[in-house]
Amino acid sequence: MISDRLSAVTTRFETMKPRVYIETFGCQMNVADTERAATGLRSSGYDLCDSVDEADVVLLNTCSVREKAERKVYTRIGEVRAARSGKQDVLVGVMGCVAQLEGASVFDHAPSVDMVIGTRATDRIPLLIERARGGERKLLDLDERGETDSWDVSPAERHSPHVAFIPIIEGCNKFCSFCIVPYSRGRERSRPASEIVAEVKNLQALGYKEIQLIGQNVNSYRPRVDDGLEGFKGATPFCRLLRAVAATGMPRIKFTTSFPRDFHPDIVTAIDENPNLCDWIHLPVQSGSDRILKLMRRGHTRNDYWQRIERIKSSSRRLALTSDIIVGFPGETDEDFCQTLDLVRQCEYDSIYIFKYSKRAGTPAANFTDTVPEKEKTARFLALEEAQRKTQERIYRSYVGRTLQVLVEKQSTRSEHDLSGHSTCNKVVNFAGDRSLEGEIVNVTVTAAKTNSLYGALVNRSAVE
Ligand code: 5AD
Ligand code: SF4
Repeated sequence: MISDRLSAVTTRFETMKPRVYIETFGCQMNVADTERAATGLRSSGYDLCDSVDEADVVLLNTCSVREKAERKVYTRIGEVRAARSGKQDVLVGVMGCVAQLEGASVFDHAPSVDMVIGTRATDRIPLLIERARGGERKLLDLDERGETDSWDVSPAERHSPHVAFIPIIEGCNKFCSFCIVPYSRGRERSRPASEIVAEVKNLQALGYKEIQLIGQNVNSYRPRVDDGLEGFKGATPFCRLLRAVAATGMPRIKFTTSFPRDFHPDIVTAIDENPNLCDWIHLPVQSGSDRILKLMRRGHTRNDYWQRIERIKSSSRRLALTSDIIVGFPGETDEDFCQTLDLVRQCEYDSIYIFKYSKRAGTPAANFTDTVPEKEKTARFLALEEAQRKTQERIYRSYVGRTLQVLVEKQSTRSEHDLSGHSTCNKVVNFAGDRSLEGEIVNVTVTAAKTNSLYGALVNRSAVE
């Protein structure tokens, strides 16, 4: 049966240019990895397509940060196989964090998987597919990056023609007790600044209006060489990188995610000095209780965090602030949770992502026994959501009557008469307008505040550079 399937696939590959469909789950790092994988595949002669139905090879780029995300992968593998049952069969590969963590046991869970491709094997995907096409079974690559691995992304493979993600650091050395990322993504490795700046300049020449410097902890950026940062002042390599990237003249520069312990006040100074460094900071706190922060091994106290927030709030521009919070961490009492509620109110976040704690095997917190019942986690989730809703309503309403610079990204999904984009403070802004404005930065006066977006009216049709 299996050999029939392989011989059918092989025959088809011999006669046609293989088409690859990559489906991406999870964070922006996965989106960036998909863009790189697609670039490598295209340059090796593969065609990329947009659905399982058209594909000869299906790659699932997976996320393992919470248990639910991981379960989704196995459901999806089943769906892919079902969608193709009775038709031309496909090769299926699992890449990303689940691949790196589960390794060969993916084959036990899902025997129909042909390839398991770890987070550092992106450059070797064309080779792995070649081998699978040649009939090799259950291919596994969890090896490190090669010395000559490339970060190149062709413009055609970027997720948007207007906003580009640029990974500046990968991996994580922080080992928060709940988090699987240090295991799935390995140790921190920073890219040379010269390479990052060159990529920004390239994107600018191609007409990109916004770049986002991305990494699990962007502000822990620490390249091995100073190459590209000469002449740029700053208290940390990340502050110097921000100034170097701002000096390219790229219209809008955002960065995410920042880690509180490494959040140097000079980041805010760099933002104050450079209008193209955008007015938005994502600084996850996870909990407002010192006791829980310690159990989480975050390396910061509530007060350390608040000091960073005070500096952000003292900026000459109002900087939008967002955060991630976990509720129901093992041992979290009512009193601990009240401290989280209190901190969230005090910080006045523009928005927050709330997660119910989910046990990840292999992390230290997986052995913590003092678990919070699911019902209680849900109650805390809802209480926090309600507290945030009130703050957010007030903040969003305060934008009514103000004019924001919006990068027009696409037609709104709600109405074909509306366009949708993001402000410099990273709010979704919708407004009536013609699609010819896509890719432009325009002025929009806010007329209404919705729960998670703003609605406005175009001020004039001339682009603001
Ligand atoms: N349970 C719940 N949320 C988690 N996160 C990371 N690990 C877990 C976990 N085990 C959340 C954190 C992190 C975000 C990306 O996901 O809040 O900042
Ligand atoms: Fe996970 Fe903590 Fe690293 Fe963020 S800093 S990726 S939460 S271990």
